[in-house]
Amino acid sequence: MTRTRVRTRVVFACTKCGAQAPKWLGRCVECGAWSTLVEETFNDPSSVVLRVAGAPEDQPIPLAQVDPNAGAGRPSGVVELDRVLGGGFVRGSVTLLAGEPGIGKSTLALQALGRMAESGYRCLLVSAEESKEQVRLRADRVDALASNLLVVSETSLPNVLAHIDDVAPDVLVIDSIQTIVDPELPGGAGSVAQVRECAQSFARVAKKTGLIVILVGHVTKDGSIAGPRSLEHLVDTVLAFEGDRHHALRMLYPLKHRYGSTNELGVFEMRDGGLEDVPDPSALFLADRRAELTGSIVTPILEGGRPLLVEVQALVVPTQGDAPPRRTTQGIDSGRLALLQAVLDRRGDIRIGFADVYASVAGGVRVVDPGIDLALTLALASAHMGCSLPPDFVAVGEIGLGGEVRLASQHPRRLAEAARLGFRHAIVPMSAPAVEGIESIPVRGIAEALSITGMYN
Ligand code: TYD
Ligand code: MG
Repeated sequence: MTRTRVRTRVVFACTKCGAQAPKWLGRCVECGAWSTLVEETFNDPSSVVLRVAGAPEDQPIPLAQVDPNAGAGRPSGVVELDRVLGGGFVRGSVTLLAGEPGIGKSTLALQALGRMAESGYRCLLVSAEESKEQVRLRADRVDALASNLLVVSETSLPNVLAHIDDVAPDVLVIDSIQTIVDPELPGGAGSVAQVRECAQSFARVAKKTGLIVILVGHVTKDGSIAGPRSLEHLVDTVLAFEGDRHHALRMLYPLKHRYGSTNELGVFEMRDGGLEDVPDPSALFLADRRAELTGSIVTPILEGGRPLLVEVQALVVPTQGDAPPRRTTQGIDSGRLALLQAVLDRRGDIRIGFADVYASVAGGVRVVDPGIDLALTLALASAHMGCSLPPDFVAVGEIGLGGEVRLASQHPRRLAEAARLGFRHAIVPMSAPAVEGIESIPVRGIAEALSITGMYN
């Protein structure tokens, strides 16, 4: 038994990143956000004056006697989710599934629960945002009606803990952690203190009983409710669910993963019957490609450690009247576009500074990989010159301010993916190693790349 005497303490917590300050500040010193600090009352651990050791929960044993496989994950049955988890959910682990509202978190959680229930796990879904009827309608859509899957609509922490006691589930989903409240604590649902304390309660149950806990957390851009970032250190795994709501594509990234690699990516499509695994995203991205178009070229990017082929497109049109030239990008950083345009001007003698320039990556993917530089530059030049690039070409490499083409990370894996999808020629940096199944055409700089593709000299 542990006996403690605890005083409460007032602190100011940032609703965006969870950092604490002893007094109110206009700007969070951790994340730099403005007006995000709110007053919170905490149990002050430094005020614990007496601590008596209770019955130990574990016994020291030789490390060699620990079964390394006891911590192996249990597959959720959702292929792309298991890929990101490196096998599945580990017993006693807490996973935070974070994403913007409407992205599909509840759908993904329900599909995983449905599959796990089918394979014999006892599953409990605590729906704190939606009624049981709404959950039932979604379950009909995604076919998750296993008898082992129980649902309860509850928001109060003590009631939820009582249900966990009653049901003794193997897997628990809390949807969402921001709507659960502990009536003992000050602050409303979604406050940093509430979210943190409630998450901590579930983490304690998980560690004690081996329960698999999945917490659904909303991320909002303005940070008005406790951002899941304030939970990052409390949970074992953080999965970010992202995508453009106007596209069907959804990407799942592990931001933190205590039991495996964070270098993974899960790809889904949101369909009428829920989320579908996309085992071959490259083929999906290129499905509607028309290679004869000008301003289009394919490049293998690296997303979450996974090579993916995407089509980069550019359009260059004369600016109307006296309006300043427009620069519009989709899925590409606009600063990167400006930089490459300047390099094209100075090092490639192709001037598009006085025209409207549009650049995008088809399919709703957001690319931060600088390996896209060469392809984007060639797409811009092709759009400007009005000539299309050969259809079975890819281009991969970073571009420096001198117009030099540099090796992108994991080059051979990128080219292998291009070869797998039938591309036969690759414009690559001089230092690039040869890859089987695809001809490498090395170039020193963009001027050389432009002449090889027939756009220059
Ligand atoms: P939801 O899982 O409720 O998102 P979140 O929990 O992250 O807020 O899903 C939101 C969207 O997904 C909603 O706009 C409807 C769409 N959707 C489908 O297109 N197909 C489906 O089968 C389901 C269940 C939802
Ligand atoms: Mg939801």
